[in-house]
Amino acid sequence: MHPDLDHIVLTEDEIKRRVAELGEQVSRDYGEESILLIAVLRGAALFVADLAREITSPIEIDFMAVSSYGSSTESSGVVRIIKDLEELIEGRNVLVVEDIIDTGLTLKYLLKNLASRKPKTLEIVSLLYKKDKQRVPISCKYVGFDVPDEFVVGYGLDYAERYRNLPYIGVLRREIYAE
Ligand code: IMP
Repeated sequence: MHPDLDHIVLTEDEIKRRVAELGEQVSRDYGEESILLIAVLRGAALFVADLAREITSPIEIDFMAVSSYGSSTESSGVVRIIKDLEELIEGRNVLVVEDIIDTGLTLKYLLKNLASRKPKTLEIVSLLYKKDKQRVPISCKYVGFDVPDEFVVGYGLDYAERYRNLPYIGVLRREIYAE
C-alpha cells in the first residue's frame, strides 16, 4: 500500500469485477442501441477506459472537463466548463461517466447543461457514490460502490494531481491534506 494512505477501500480485483458487472448491465439495457459515453476529466479517465471495454453495445467516447471552484477537498458548486464536447448530443443516448459523486453539485450543473442540448436519453454511471454525504438529489442509474464520506484517491482519483495511477482506491491519511 502507498505510504500516504490510511487504508485501502477497494482492491484492484474488486474494482475490476464491479466494472465488468457495470459493463454487462449497461450492455443489457442498451442492447444494439449506440451510446455516447461522456467521461468527465480527469478523474473518470481510467474508469471510462476500463468500462468501455466491458460494454458490448456500440459506443463512442467523448470528454468534458470542468473545474469546480473551492478548496482541493470540497467542491463549491460553482462549475466552469473548461473543455466542451466534440460531438453533438441531440437525439443520442448519452451516458455520463463520473469517478465519484460527493456533494453532487458538479453533476447537477453538468446534467442541466447537457439536458439543454436535447439528448434522447441522459443517464449517469458513477464508480463511487458517497452515500452519507449531504448532497443535491442526483438520480444516478449505475453506481459501482457506495463509499464512506472520506477523501479517497487512486484509480483516477487524485489529491493535488497525485495518486491517480494507484490501481486500488484508498483513504488518504489526514496529515497529507491537512499539511
Ligand atoms: P461533487 O461536486 O462534490 O459531487 O464532487 C465532484 C468531484 O470532486 C468529483 O468528480 C471528484 O473529481 C472530486 N471529488 C469528490 N470527492 C472526492 C474524493 O474523495 N477524492 C477525490 N476526488 C473527489
